[in-house]
Parts: sequence; C-alpha cells; structure tokens
Amino acid sequence: MSYEDLLDLSEYPRRHVQKSASPFRYPGGKGFLSGFLATVVDTLPGEEKVYAEPFCGGAGAAVNLLEDGKVASIHLNDADARVYSAWNAMVHETERFLERIASARVDMEEWYEARETLQNMQLNGDYSFEVGYATYFINRTSRSGIVLGSGPIGGYNQTGRWKIDARFYRESMSRRIAWIGENRDRIHLTNEDATVFLARSEARVSLEKTLFFVDPPYVEAGSRLYLNAMSESKHSALADMLNSGRFPHWVLTYDNHPLVHRLYRDFRQRKIQVNYSLKTTRKEREILVQSI
Ligand SMILES: C[S@@+](CC[C@H](N)C(=O)[O-])C[C@H]1O[C@@H](n2cnc3c(N)ncnc32)[C@H](O)[C@@H]1O
Repeated sequence: MSYEDLLDLSEYPRRHVQKSASPFRYPGGKGFLSGFLATVVDTLPGEEKVYAEPFCGGAGAAVNLLEDGKVASIHLNDADARVYSAWNAMVHETERFLERIASARVDMEEWYEARETLQNMQLNGDYSFEVGYATYFINRTSRSGIVLGSGPIGGYNQTGRWKIDARFYRESMSRRIAWIGENRDRIHLTNEDATVFLARSEARVSLEKTLFFVDPPYVEAGSRLYLNAMSESKHSALADMLNSGRFPHWVLTYDNHPLVHRLYRDFRQRKIQVNYSLKTTRKEREILVQSI
C-alpha cells in the first residue's frame, strides 16, 4: 500500500471556478479534478466514452468533461431526491427553470419559502419541479451550498458583509442551465442508492467504455453538508463491488481514513488536497484510489 504518495494536481489543466460548467455550488465539489479525470478518460477504448458518477451531487467534473467533448454522455446518480429533482428540472424542464431564475426575488422571504418546500416534501421516489427549484435556490443562497443545516449567506438578519444574493449569478447560472438543456440527450439521471446504481450499470452502459468517478460521503463526519446515506456496511459493500473486477475503470475519492486504507488495500492510493468547505479555505487531505 502506498497511500503516502501525493498526486500533484498542478500538473493537470485546471479551469477557473467561474468557467466551471456545473450550475451548482457544492461542498466537496470535484470540478477541480476534471483535468486529471480527462487523462484517465483518454485511456478508455473507442470513441464514444461514457462517464458515470454514482454520488453526483453538483457533478462538477462530469459536466466539465461533457462540455470539453471528452466524453459522449454522462450518467448522474444521487440518492438525495432533492438533488435528483434539481438535475431533472434543469435537464427536462429547462425553459420553466430558466423562467423561474429570471423572475426570482432573491430575499429572505423566498429563502424561507424554499426551505419550507424542502421540509414539507414527500417525494417517495417521485420527481418534483418545485422541490428541484427550491433545492437549487437554497444551494445558491446558503452558506455551505447545500440543503442541510446551513443558513443563508449574510445570516438570518442579513447583517453579514455578503448578502443572500451574493452568489446568485443569474446570467452565468442561466447560461450553464441552458447548455445542460440543449445537451439533455447525453445526460442520464437516476435517483438510486449508489450500490444499486452500480449493479444496474451493467445493463445500461458498456463497462469497458465507462469511467466511474465515485465520490461518497466521508466515512468520518460525512453527514453535515449533504445527505449521508452510507453506513460502515455500505462503505464495505461499495468496496466489494469495486474490488470485484466487474468495473474495469474507476476513480474513487474519500477522506483519509483507516477504513478506506483497508478496504482498498489492493489498489494504488494517493493523497490529494481539496477545499473542503465553501466558507473557508481550509485544506483537507483526501485519498484518491484508482482501479488501474
Ligand atoms: C461528496 S458529495 C459528491 C460531490 C460531487 N462529486 C461534486 O463534485 O459535486 C456526495 C453525494 O452523495 C450523495 N449520497 C449520499 N449517500 C448516498 C448513497 N447511498 N447513494 C448515492 N448517493 C448518495 C449525497 O446526496 C451527495 O450529493
């Protein structure tokens, strides 16, 4: 095991965050890995390469790779029905979504309304435009970027230096969403548990031509910034699948935790540096594991 190595990401092209193709702000977002992942995609056989994220969140890297023409299609999966609804609304009800953004009042009243929509939602596996839009509104106006437990930018009394609309960049958000709508035929969405998604992938894609980028919640303290539907046994079940050899191409990122070292001891493990929080510039070390 060689998990002491550091993967030097400065060797790979990096987009400025303002050039990112994803419309989301996501804690732990992995858009910064796009350059590295593009070099892994280049090693896949054939022309029509596929890229899949079982824990997609804001899918920072996926949308960059699609926009850069590195892959022909992307499969985005998230167990959180709110995240899934937001993607589904953007991809399949693009015009309606863009109209809502254009006419949005970005103030505390709207923020409370969006939060209430999310608190009262009863999706039971269904899609809802309203839940999707509310999720995205909260994502763009809250401190830590996603739904759980993070207050509005500027605080509840709006006395902070930055106000609630500080990150609601109507024009660039709309441009990104419009592009996503135009490319809907190449974007496949699911709302499944990651292990179910992986098991079903065999029937959906050619595994030989697909790179799976797997970015689960942290083993330790993974639950505050987004949904954590992972237990220790689920982390193990995921490892069993990735260890099975059924999936020839995958890249995995995790917190630097002994369980991860153990579960993936047969693979190359390297450290990477990530900006963990959207609020601070605190650097966390994560582990990147690779199938090849
Ligand atoms: C670390 S975030 C992914 C961030 C993403 N890579 C990005 O660039 O934005 C983990 C995501 O996994 C989702 N999630 C949590 N438990 C899950 C499970 N059991 N199956 C699928 N998704 C899950 C969460 O909703 C969250 O969006």
